[in-house]
Amino acid sequence: MQIPDQQIIVITGASRGIGAAIALRLAKSGAHLVLTGRDRAKLQSVADSILSAGGTAEAHLCDLRDPGQIESLAKTVLSRRGRCDVLINNAGLGRFGEPLHSLAPGEWDRILETNLRAPYLLVRAFAPAMIAAGGGHIINISSLAGRNPLPNAAAYAASKWGLNGLMYSVAEELRPHKIRVSLIAPGSTQTEFAGGLSAKKSPLGALAPDDVAHVVEMLLTQADASFVSEVLIRPTLKS
Ligand SMILES: NC(=O)c1ccc[n+]([C@@H]2O[C@H](COP(=O)([O-])OP(=O)(O)OC[C@H]3O[C@@H](n4cnc5c(N)ncnc54)[C@H](OP(=O)(O)O)[C@@H]3O)[C@@H](O)[C@H]2O)c1
Repeated sequence: MQIPDQQIIVITGASRGIGAAIALRLAKSGAHLVLTGRDRAKLQSVADSILSAGGTAEAHLCDLRDPGQIESLAKTVLSRRGRCDVLINNAGLGRFGEPLHSLAPGEWDRILETNLRAPYLLVRAFAPAMIAAGGGHIINISSLAGRNPLPNAAAYAASKWGLNGLMYSVAEELRPHKIRVSLIAPGSTQTEFAGGLSAKKSPLGALAPDDVAHVVEMLLTQADASFVSEVLIRPTLKS
């Protein structure tokens, strides 16, 4: 199966890492990609790579910690494109190496607002249009940290455990509207995430961003009568 042509796909955190890899892979399907993030130059460079390879994409600056910017992103996309077929909640951040009792409240807010509140606000902004259109797909990039304890990164783990609970519940709310909601939980992936912690691992000891993008493509090409709730992806070697 193929991803239907001309789908409107919104990807958060598309300026680098896993989000950029998802954008570059899905661009080959003929979908129109709405790339969001805060770094204008990096977002534009991902959009330019897609355009020069013959795909279509547009870059939108959007700080996901600001509810007003999420609302205006949705208004712009829905007024210009008329719909959003796929929402990929990928943007996220983590802070590692510090016990919870040392974490400043401002850092807690930064992590939870980006990783958990923003996906809620994005569902709030885009799900009504998907319901009106009679279907859609929401894919969330969670983490193996949302399935395991993660000492010295408890706020990050809480944000991903929270994301899982949120999206399994939303999946049941949106199912009657033919909207599928899926989670992908990668292990260590070679990106700049958390200061490039995983980028230093050996090639088989960490996933490549495109490994995660490949799974996104697999989920988007499921037959109409089924959907995958969650995929856990681990690097081949444990490091
Ligand atoms: N790398 C790993 O080992 C790993 C493992 C499991 C799960 N994950 C998850 O995978 C997802 C992507 O991570 P990554 O590894 O690709 O990290 P990354 O390279 O650090 O990229 C993070 C992306 O999130 C965006 N972002 C962060 N804060 C934002 C905000 N306030 N508003 C808008 N965009 C924001 C960044 O864009 P701007 O800088 O342009 O704003 C960037 O595009 C995250 O949800 C992460 O938790 C990563």
